[in-house]
Amino acid sequence: MKYWLGIDVGTGGSRALLVRADGTVVSGVTAAHEDILMLKPLWAEQRPQDWWNASRQAVRQLLAETGVRGEQIAGVGLSGQMHGLTLLDAADQVIRPALIWCDQRSQEQVDWINAKAGKDMVLEQTANPVLTGFTAPKLLWVRDHDPASYERVRRMLLPKDYIRFCLTGEYVSEVSDASGTALFDVMQRRWARPLVDKLGIDASVLPEVVESPQTTGRISRAAAEETGLQAGTPLVGGGGDQAASAIGNGIVKPGLVSCTVGTSGVVFSHLEEAAYDPEGRVHTFCHAVPGKWHIMGVTQGAGLSLQWFRNQLATGLADQAAREGVEVYDLLTEEAAAVPAGAEGLYWLPYLMGERTPHLDANARGGWVGLTAKHTRGHLVRAILEGVAYSLNDCLGIIESLGASVEAVRASGGGAKSPLWRSILAGVFTKPIATLQTQEGSAYGAALLAMVGTGEFGSVEEACGGVIIEQRRDLPDSALTAAYGRGYATFRDLYPALRDLFPKM
Ligand code: XUL
Repeated sequence: MKYWLGIDVGTGGSRALLVRADGTVVSGVTAAHEDILMLKPLWAEQRPQDWWNASRQAVRQLLAETGVRGEQIAGVGLSGQMHGLTLLDAADQVIRPALIWCDQRSQEQVDWINAKAGKDMVLEQTANPVLTGFTAPKLLWVRDHDPASYERVRRMLLPKDYIRFCLTGEYVSEVSDASGTALFDVMQRRWARPLVDKLGIDASVLPEVVESPQTTGRISRAAAEETGLQAGTPLVGGGGDQAASAIGNGIVKPGLVSCTVGTSGVVFSHLEEAAYDPEGRVHTFCHAVPGKWHIMGVTQGAGLSLQWFRNQLATGLADQAAREGVEVYDLLTEEAAAVPAGAEGLYWLPYLMGERTPHLDANARGGWVGLTAKHTRGHLVRAILEGVAYSLNDCLGIIESLGASVEAVRASGGGAKSPLWRSILAGVFTKPIATLQTQEGSAYGAALLAMVGTGEFGSVEEACGGVIIEQRRDLPDSALTAAYGRGYATFRDLYPALRDLFPKM
């Protein structure tokens, strides 16, 4: 029997997922990452070596638990958190912790890029404005603030591509992830050499780029020993986590929209032709479907908001959760479910790591607004779930305004596992929320790309057509949509009222 392996290098952990030829999932294992290093507010770093430790542990454990042998795996696909800056020296050693996707320290470098190249050139070359979340300004921050490290740089890799390097020894990326570097010509699907040169970046640090299902290399002997995979097993390009998750959700033709509530939250729509928001509030990137594009809006602090609450304000619930055999998240959402929609006038701004869509504001800060002594922990949590949904609705609204027709939204990610969060999303979006039989998102999409790359399916569309099945739909409840219509109008007024204060904080 043959199997395919998807590896997703997320923010909280790395997941390995084993898939059969008929697209059903055998099993998955997640190995946690260390906590994000936050040396200052709005800074975020992780150690690439930690991603590798977690990835190889997850693969080893998955093979041990399922009894599947390395030689039974026909192909491997990768997916991962986007935009992160992994720097290697001449001896292929990691030079410093990676500045990851949600790190916001590089506004000065964004301004420098805009001054040096001009905003028009950036837009023409990359189809997007440059943002602090993207990779190029992070690299230039290292140039400006850690020159000793910058001098040693020989290679720059995105998180999943560092794992590819560990598995195969090759420096390769693919179009969907490269799109988020601010150095990639999204229209032409190749590095934006005029911009790279203009910024004085040595193009030899950039990896080769392929289309997502293309084979990029084979598992090396050393990696085989560390993972239990067989040396010589082919690896395909894979995708940035959002494009891979879209494949896992079957978002491969017009009219389909997905919403992923992971650490970040993303609303994603397929594009047959590249088109972009002139204000740059949503990103236009290459899709993991060869020759296609996608558009997406990003809420920086989606699952992150609830995770932060659990870690900082709900530690007292850990014992109860262990006694009852549930997650702390289950106890928190149970309390939130008992609170009326709208959390009795309490609002949450999910800007814990600045915000991308729609504000493009690295200085934006989070918090509750409207707190009274009547409010309980359940209100605080309900406001978080609702505030994240409002912010994702900002993304959906822009995507619809650009012409996407949205009949239903396919939800995935940890947040979509919560029935309460799904019903809030349906009420805020005023759309049915569809969940799929296989809710594995990015790791599943990566495995499907490996199946296409090794010839099991003729195309990504064929793979998705064959295996993606909707399981249920949560319909919007009319009482909720009325409450959230009013709530969203107030939510939209909060950011403009606070915007000028954020830089003073
Ligand atoms: C997408 C983005 C996040 C990360 C982490 O642009 O920054 O979704 O990929 O999931």
